[in-house]
Amino acid sequence: QARHLFDYNIVLIGFMGAGKSTVSEYLSTVFAMDVVEMDQVIAEREGMSIPDIFATYGEEYFRNRETNLLKEMQLRKQAVISCGGGAALREENVAEMKKNGRVVLLTASPQTIYERVKDSTDRPILNGNNNIEFITELMEKRREKYEKAADIVIYTDGKTVLQICEELIAKL
Ligand code: S3P
Repeated sequence: QARHLFDYNIVLIGFMGAGKSTVSEYLSTVFAMDVVEMDQVIAEREGMSIPDIFATYGEEYFRNRETNLLKEMQLRKQAVISCGGGAALREENVAEMKKNGRVVLLTASPQTIYERVKDSTDRPILNGNNNIEFITELMEKRREKYEKAADIVIYTDGKTVLQICEELIAKL
């Protein structure tokens, strides 16, 4: 009988553009783990895109959907949970992440993040603010909360997805 390498969830957190989705896809392929893309699940359940959820119901509503989904997720094991960039900002969310998971923070420099998200149109938090000053400021505002939530921190600048995953596995 096959045994899984991990009997807990790997929970990826970090700023928009930090590489959460890319890394989760890679991990799921290599280790045959399920992936839960939180934004995608929320959008599917609500029957609308993330920008539409923000526009129709507001940010608070979206944040509450995140909290509810994370409560469901702590019942799972052996999944890669790719969080939206704001999911680690609520303390109660972080507590849910930690119940069954290792929380992995992916970070990058503001310049790198800017390059990755500058053409993004589906991130309401950036709405019209896709500039380096806004990104630097918001990253700084969120930094402490991200770091406090993390069990493991991985700096991604200049690394390939493979290198990032190897580092992640080594630190688990
Ligand atoms: C958000 C990040 C987004 C998405 C929503 C809010 C944020 O996810 O959840 O637009 O507050 O940082 P990504 O990190 O996948 O872009």
